[in-house]
Amino acid sequence: MVSLVPYDPSFLELSWQWLNDPEIKRLTHTADFTREDQQKWFDKIPSLEGYKIWGIQHDGEKVGVCGIKNITGDDCEYWGYIGVKTMWSKGIGTMAMELIEEKAADIKLKSIWLLVLEENVRGRKFYEKLGYTKEGQDGILIKMRKHIHP
Ligand SMILES: CC(C)(COP(=O)(O)OP(=O)(O)OC[C@H]1O[C@@H](n2cnc3c(N)ncnc32)[C@H](O)[C@@H]1OP(=O)(O)O)[C@@H](O)C(=O)NCCC(=O)NCCS
Repeated sequence: MVSLVPYDPSFLELSWQWLNDPEIKRLTHTADFTREDQQKWFDKIPSLEGYKIWGIQHDGEKVGVCGIKNITGDDCEYWGYIGVKTMWSKGIGTMAMELIEEKAADIKLKSIWLLVLEENVRGRKFYEKLGYTKEGQDGILIKMRKHIHP
């Protein structure tokens, strides 16, 4: 079972490891950061406007992180990744995304958009399968969107 749980310091520690994996760092388009940068970011999460973050848990194991940001009147930006690479392609991302879409619908958002690297074939296929369609492209980043609330 997949659940979205509070992003606590244990996820912060795991994120340090996950995002420093060269493949995950590249696929998530993550800039270099230090432990201190990460701690400063964590400390200001409660005060960030239009920003929600969760840990992804699968059968009790912490496996990834996801969130929505840039929450405006009717849309938001999704981001997320599964940090435990042996857990890729097992349906966990799909279930996490369904939970995110429920949370977005609960706060009456009408659509979700996201940015994915052009080279991230798995990611692009994943979002396409879930109903996200290309809306535009800015350099190496493709923007995709799905309408969730008619
Ligand atoms: C992208 C990611 C969230 C997808 O989650 P996942 O749990 O691995 O994906 P799922 O098992 O739910 O797969 C759903 C669909 O995604 C696509 N997909 C998944 N793995 C794939 C692979 N290895 N190759 C191609 N397509 C793949 C398929 O369309 C799949 O549907 P199918 O099972 O019917 O073929 C996850 O793999 C991940 O975090 N990867 C690394 C970081 C990353 O790329 N994050 C996104 C940055 S924008």
